Amino acid sequence: MKEDTLITSVGRRPEDFHGVVNTPVYRCSTVLFPTLESYLGRGKNRFDNVTYGIHGTPTTYTFEEAMAALEDGYRSVSVPSGLAAVTAALMSFLEAGDHVLMVDSVYGPTRTFCDGLLKRQGVETTYYDPAIGAGIGELMRPETAVVFCESPGSMTFEMQDIPAIAAAARERGAKVLMDNTWATPVFFKAFEHGVDVSIHACTKYVAGHSDVLLGAITCANEEDWLRVRTTVSELGICPGTEEVYLATRGLRTMKVRLNHQQESGLAVARWLEQRPEVARMLHPALPGDPGHALWKRDFKGASSLFAIVLHPCSRQAVAAMLDGLELFGIGSSWGGFESLIIPADPEGQRTATTWNGPGPCIRLHIGLEAVEDLIADLEKGFQRLNAA
Ligand SMILES: Cc1ncc(COP(=O)(O)O)c(C=O)c1O
Repeated sequence: MKEDTLITSVGRRPEDFHGVVNTPVYRCSTVLFPTLESYLGRGKNRFDNVTYGIHGTPTTYTFEEAMAALEDGYRSVSVPSGLAAVTAALMSFLEAGDHVLMVDSVYGPTRTFCDGLLKRQGVETTYYDPAIGAGIGELMRPETAVVFCESPGSMTFEMQDIPAIAAAARERGAKVLMDNTWATPVFFKAFEHGVDVSIHACTKYVAGHSDVLLGAITCANEEDWLRVRTTVSELGICPGTEEVYLATRGLRTMKVRLNHQQESGLAVARWLEQRPEVARMLHPALPGDPGHALWKRDFKGASSLFAIVLHPCSRQAVAAMLDGLELFGIGSSWGGFESLIIPADPEGQRTATTWNGPGPCIRLHIGLEAVEDLIADLEKGFQRLNAA
């Protein structure tokens, strides 16, 4: 089955729901059993059947089946947010005395989790240069249990050589966990490149409409899945089924949106690349990007999140540009239908590498608006920046 067909059909079972096309929202804590025996036996297959709301419902099973199939993984676990997917995945494979290798360009709250809760639980983190490739082997210790990747980094867009890192990790018995949110399962097939656990903030392109918080953890094999599923159950976290329903609905159109946003994102990026105010583009799909060769080798496409580095200019000048934008909202997150813009501040977020600007770094998310309108909005923004 081609991916376009898979994405529209996987996990649907209308025959189970009176012909209704989408698996409905199941609202439940309590599930009733017809006999004492069936109640007492409910622990068996509790992650496949509907036994109590926290373990899963037809709504969550549909979504997890779709995510796993798209990713070509074994099975998926849904959790209440992208950050919960990161933290639950890390906790599944780490215990006191372990060591984790964490990419220096990682999403800020993942770093906060390592430096906070993981440290308090006796897990040590070493940050590594995203460009390290096979050199990761030199940082590995006997107690290194996890190598965590995010490629490209969602603020500064450095690409990682995932197959080289995965090969080195596998040789030394460590798991490779990857935050694959930027590419989604459509643009990066994590398991084909050696990743063991693929993590998604489905809040972004999967849900796609800036109204849902949801995460998914997909594993390559049954053993890892059971470990993650058990950890998530032990933590007592589960997503709201309304959220899961909305994300499943978003997933059906994700590829169409992604293909469109890829083209719009590249069109805006190519225009920005020519601007005299822009010192550097941070977009792996542009041929001049240092990560372009890796992106071309391993990825099937690029989403519409990227950044620019301006020539040195004042904070007031950046504020004059951003404050007056009509189509770009100033706000966190990305992957929705609407364009967003925020300052990225890599300086405060690095410990293994140093960030050399030269000027302010600005992250853009390109939505589904007309490219001409977005460019006109940015052009007026540059006029304000230059006048400030
Ligand atoms: C790369 C990346 N991973 C994870 C997350 C966390 O997702 P959520 O906001 O759903 O917790 C984000 C959110 O911005 C992100 O950018």
